[in-house]
Amino acid sequence: MTHGFPQGGIALAPMRHLTQGPFWQILNQYGAPDAYVSEFVRVHKNFTLNPRQIEDNLAYADKCPLWIQLMGNDPDALLRNAEILQKYPIAGIDFNVGCPVPKIYKKQAGGGLLKNLPLLKTLICSLRTGCSKPLSVKMRIGFEHAENFEKILDILHEAQVDSITIHARTVKDRYGGQIRYDFIRRAVEKLPIPIIANGDINTLDDIKYVLSFTRCWGTMLGRAAVRNPWIFSQWHSHNKGHPIDYPRYKHVFEYLQKIDKTFKLNRNANKLGLLKNFCKYIGPAIDADGDFWGQILKSSTESEFWVRCEQGLLKGLQGEKVFRGEVA
Ligand SMILES: Cc1cc2nc3c(=O)[nH]c(=O)nc-3n(C[C@H](O)[C@H](O)[C@H](O)COP(=O)(O)O)c2cc1C
Repeated sequence: MTHGFPQGGIALAPMRHLTQGPFWQILNQYGAPDAYVSEFVRVHKNFTLNPRQIEDNLAYADKCPLWIQLMGNDPDALLRNAEILQKYPIAGIDFNVGCPVPKIYKKQAGGGLLKNLPLLKTLICSLRTGCSKPLSVKMRIGFEHAENFEKILDILHEAQVDSITIHARTVKDRYGGQIRYDFIRRAVEKLPIPIIANGDINTLDDIKYVLSFTRCWGTMLGRAAVRNPWIFSQWHSHNKGHPIDYPRYKHVFEYLQKIDKTFKLNRNANKLGLLKNFCKYIGPAIDADGDFWGQILKSSTESEFWVRCEQGLLKGLQGEKVFRGEVA
């Protein structure tokens, strides 16, 4: 994750169904991060990437280097798809070694690979063979425990991956267990390649803290970016010593309108579900008692959703309130 990714840089984490192309387009307007990573592409035995899918991703990511993330457990299929990908002007290939969804890890893909280190080694070596572009791995510190952490780092380093992103909790912790930045620091001390820190980095102060505590190359933000898509421009302003520009609640309303307009869903997909999905992350930054999110959750139609959004974000003087983007 260093190809065009500056030291101290900040990447957008992949979040399936949320931080994809249309979201990158919105960020391109608010201030792009230093790298985009696609949501995982599930590579089954007979799967072959569709060139249209890669080209669409590249068109969306025109302001920022793009990493395409693969996930799978078949070395030949991964090799074949890595060979296809590397013909495109992407920054690199990222391999998913952290997905905590049981359906995935039970098939020894994603986070399940942290329990099968010989297979992990085979897959990384296969990807390395097919990919002369930078190869990164996004991993967790272990499956149920972190006893094999150093062994996993050795495998990745011996297979010559170029960088590693570490979501500093175990697979079994999913998204809520204790975050362990000390493991990221250990990886930085052990390996001579860039380590990117990920997990619960929610504010500018968090970014500063994690960079200084772990001495990592850069950071990666997921949920915080969905909650506060202005965080990348705020970070860049901070770095330049410029004052931080905070949006207001009326701008959060406009952000939701942009999501509504920018995401083009297929015929069977559910726009209300998508909007609610975004609000699940935004809600805790609107009010501490969960009123906004509670109201949104009750919407059963899109028009009801917008009425409730107007009430929560625009009514009275609400629209002029400063949105800090932090969990209230
Ligand atoms: C809804 C959702 C979807 C996710 N999809 C992916 C994915 O496709 N690939 C991946 O490597 N991680 C995925 N993640 C994990 C995030 O990239 C990230 O590691 C995790 O959310 C912790 O970072 P955060 O605290 O900044 O959100 C997903 C997380 C969530 C909540």
